[in-house]
Amino acid sequence: MSFNKITVVGAGHVGATAAQRIAEKELARHVVLVDIADGIPQGKGLDQWESAPIEGFDTRIVGAQDYELARGSEIFVVTAGIARKPGMSRDDLLKTNAGIVRSVSEEIAKVAPESIIIMVSNPLDVMSYVAMQATGFPRERVIGMAGVLDTARYRSFIAMEAGVSVEDIQALVLGGHGDTMVPLESCTTIAGIPLSHFLPQEKIDALVERTRKGGAEIVGYLKTGSAYYAPSAAAVQMVEAIVKDKNRILPCAAYLTGEYGQDGIFLGVPCKLGAGGLKEILEVELTESERAALGKSADHVRESMKALD
Ligand code: NAI
Ligand code: 2OP
Repeated sequence: MSFNKITVVGAGHVGATAAQRIAEKELARHVVLVDIADGIPQGKGLDQWESAPIEGFDTRIVGAQDYELARGSEIFVVTAGIARKPGMSRDDLLKTNAGIVRSVSEEIAKVAPESIIIMVSNPLDVMSYVAMQATGFPRERVIGMAGVLDTARYRSFIAMEAGVSVEDIQALVLGGHGDTMVPLESCTTIAGIPLSHFLPQEKIDALVERTRKGGAEIVGYLKTGSAYYAPSAAAVQMVEAIVKDKNRILPCAAYLTGEYGQDGIFLGVPCKLGAGGLKEILEVELTESERAALGKSADHVRESMKALD
């Protein structure tokens, strides 16, 4: 199963790696990389295509600086934006990326009005909102990537600590993409066995804290940029769920209209992804403290949204 065309906007670290993963999995016959940087999308696209004979994929990757080649794409993965630089406030970053995401979204709506947007650019929850506003797309077709990444980080840390395979760990991290994210202990198991059977509470608390700071941990090492291997893998898992109509239950940022007591914001919640994008938001029972933490996370997203005004 594959689509005809998927476009990745932003040929930087996350975007280029996502394009390569999409091609290697042959999720589409054509992958288009779009970026404003002169020659970068064309050069990276050609370089990736030249790996096709070795890796054995027939997905044709091309790069461009405008959206003509992207016309009719079924999915757009949006990674365009800038990273925070010294001297810039959080609001500076938010406003700059909001301008970029708004203009990118308007282009998408022109060349592919029926497409699905997977938002990656930060701050993720607010950028997803900007894309929905700018395109006028329904919530089924604008979905933010954060929870899959945050959950993968949590699972990878648990696997290391408990000495078990990552494959046997089920977990769910909800809320906004930031320090207020909410790893749900009640939904974390190893092969269906509660995590508390394997690890003492203080270890679990430490893993939750490490997960919350997972993005900053990588920035601390890289210094000049942020994570991209796990983020691109996370975005492509969402793409694959949609392309193959897998009905996967994945934590994604979705526009809430009353679910979890929240209205009018994007927030990380369990979603069913398949053909057409977001098929359903699942409302799982939360403990009192999890519900309070999710409320706090939603307040934080609302605060960031205010800075847009
Ligand atoms: P990067 O700096 O390597 O790439 C960004 C690219 O966007 C650059 O190539 C730049 O030329 C391009 N760009 C800027 N304005 C554009 C426009 N108007 N149209 C098209 N392209 C444009 O950054 P990286 O590491 O790839 O990160 C991209 C974004 O993803 C950042 O906002 C980052 O914070 C976010 N991110 C989000 C994650 C999540 O969990 N949601 C995880 C990792 C990164
Ligand atoms: C991350 O979590 C920077 O949002 C990005 O790695």
